[in-house]
Amino acid sequence: MEPQIYFTLVFLLFLNLYVLVLTTDHNNYSRSDFPVDFIFGSGTSAYQVEGAAYEDGRTPSIWDTFAHAGFAYGGNGDVACDAYHKYKEDVQLMLETGLHAYRFSISWSRLIPNGRGPVNPKGLQYYNNLINELISNGIQPHVTLHNYDLPQALEDDYEGWLSRRVIKDFTNYADVCFREFGDRVKYWTTVNEPNIFAMGSYDQGISPPRRCSPPFCIITSSKGNSTFEPYLAAHHILLAHSSAVRLYRRKYREQQQGFVGISFYTFGIVPQTNTEKDRAACERIRTFYFGWFMEPLLHGDYPSLMKENAGARIPAFTTRESEQVKGSYDFIGIIHYTKFNVSDNSDGLNTKLRDFSADTGAILGIKDLLGDEEYPMAPWALQEVLETFKTLYGNPPIFIHENGQRTVSNASLRDVSRVEYLHAYIGSVLDSLRNGSNVKGYFVWSFMDAFELLDGYKSIYGLYSVDRNDPELRRYPKLSAKWYKQFLNGSRTSLVGDIKLKEDSSLASVGHSFQ
Ligand SMILES: *[C@@H]1O[C@H](CO)[C@@H](O)[C@H](O)[C@H]1NC(C)=O
Ligand SMILES: *[C@@H]1O[C@H](CO)[C@@H](O)[C@H](O)[C@H]1NC(C)=O
Ligand SMILES: *[C@@H]1O[C@H](CO)[C@@H](O)[C@H](O)[C@H]1NC(C)=O
Ligand SMILES: *[C@@H]1O[C@H](CO)[C@@H](O)[C@H](O)[C@H]1NC(C)=O
Ligand SMILES: *[C@@H]1O[C@H](CO)[C@@H](O)[C@H](O)[C@H]1NC(C)=O
Repeated sequence: MEPQIYFTLVFLLFLNLYVLVLTTDHNNYSRSDFPVDFIFGSGTSAYQVEGAAYEDGRTPSIWDTFAHAGFAYGGNGDVACDAYHKYKEDVQLMLETGLHAYRFSISWSRLIPNGRGPVNPKGLQYYNNLINELISNGIQPHVTLHNYDLPQALEDDYEGWLSRRVIKDFTNYADVCFREFGDRVKYWTTVNEPNIFAMGSYDQGISPPRRCSPPFCIITSSKGNSTFEPYLAAHHILLAHSSAVRLYRRKYREQQQGFVGISFYTFGIVPQTNTEKDRAACERIRTFYFGWFMEPLLHGDYPSLMKENAGARIPAFTTRESEQVKGSYDFIGIIHYTKFNVSDNSDGLNTKLRDFSADTGAILGIKDLLGDEEYPMAPWALQEVLETFKTLYGNPPIFIHENGQRTVSNASLRDVSRVEYLHAYIGSVLDSLRNGSNVKGYFVWSFMDAFELLDGYKSIYGLYSVDRNDPELRRYPKLSAKWYKQFLNGSRTSLVGDIKLKEDSSLASVGHSFQ
């Protein structure tokens, strides 16, 4: 062989290997790198988009009350995106975007206005219409039953999640949903992020029903007790969840062939300093925020660290309850946006009066969550969470139920930072998948700009913008919607219109397209 040809062949071989290596880089991937049955969707929740808050028999939820008391920058969900009336148009946008699935929640107080008792036929009709519209357009409905919106009637009646009575009412509500919609809905989530709901709503008083006691309140409240209510609310949520799962398995699973899970708020956990103390504090935070629910679901009991630190303030499971909670999930939903710093606060464990946060013996820097800045780019944090669920919590089937970038509400439709965020995070999901994580799907938060729990309309996450100054509340695709659409249609991800993503520029210059 001529040295020249030999050299060329070696060079080509080398180039090929080089291209192969590059294509497994998480910055340059396509839809076809994911398993064919991997689900890509986007989501919203009832109170955040439906509007029609007083229409057709709906009654307020604890979230309505919270918003109307002015805790969401003066905003409320009375009108929101008017998805109650515009669902057909919205499903057309989903179709155009190429979504496989839409994640939404049912408003309990729209379906069963008093929280228990008779079903509201108009509420039933609305959810049937929405589900039928999705199905007839080939979009899978993924449905959540509780998203910070317990009927206010049950809060008034017996203090909602603080009472055991909620278990029966929640199970009956789930029964109505499984019975009425379960022929078409195959993915059910009982309660959305109960870990942060219990902490925010019963320890710090920053989310509905806004209970807390001094000195632990972030927003003062006249009701509550931060020392034990977070544990009690979480306990009843676990019991209500597992009761609904048991009902589904007994009465519906054989015929409907669906799956029931629960979702958690997760975050990357970063030691404030590289010391043994801060690293140990990180482990405690992991246990308190993730193990709190995952260990009962896996083993039927709370982590021993939590029982130690909270003592009698954390409720005990009876043997029967423990058996019911253990294994009561078909998948776990992951809500993920950002990372938080953690530092040691083990001295706080010597204080007699402690809340949930003090019981962790750590300080979690959640200030990020309360601002309206864009989230820092930390796709490794999502991988870290998936790795934790893989190695510590039995590698359950996982849906990333929420992930997305927050921007200010007056930002332009050219939401480059959101595209960069989604691009990097979906890439990190691919890396985790290849590293053995059992991820089954990914939902961008949010499908359209919605009413946000803490920020009201001040910050936005949507793929579609909603013009709030337009009485028609018209929707407009952002760059991120176009990018997601291109991605779902199989294109490599480095280009959107005239935008070339930064991380991709070196790869794009190689100019290959490798299938
Ligand atoms: C909260 O409950 C604990 C334990 O029952 C009690 O010692 C404490 O006084 C209560 N605090 C308030 C503010 O009610
Ligand atoms: C968070 O911790 C990292 C080191 O782990 C540090 O570099 C950074 O400044 C910290 N951020 C804040 C807001 O304290
Ligand atoms: C959005 O509004 C804020 C506050 O009013 C302002 O500081 C910022 O410049 C505005 N941004 C854009 C893109 O208009
Ligand atoms: C991949 O999985 C292995 C085994 O669980 C783990 O040691 C490693 O840290 C993982 N890599 C990433 C990037 O998560
Ligand atoms: C999807 O991609 C195909 C082939 O690349 C292209 O012909 C088609 O127009 C695209 N569809 C949409 C809706 O962009």
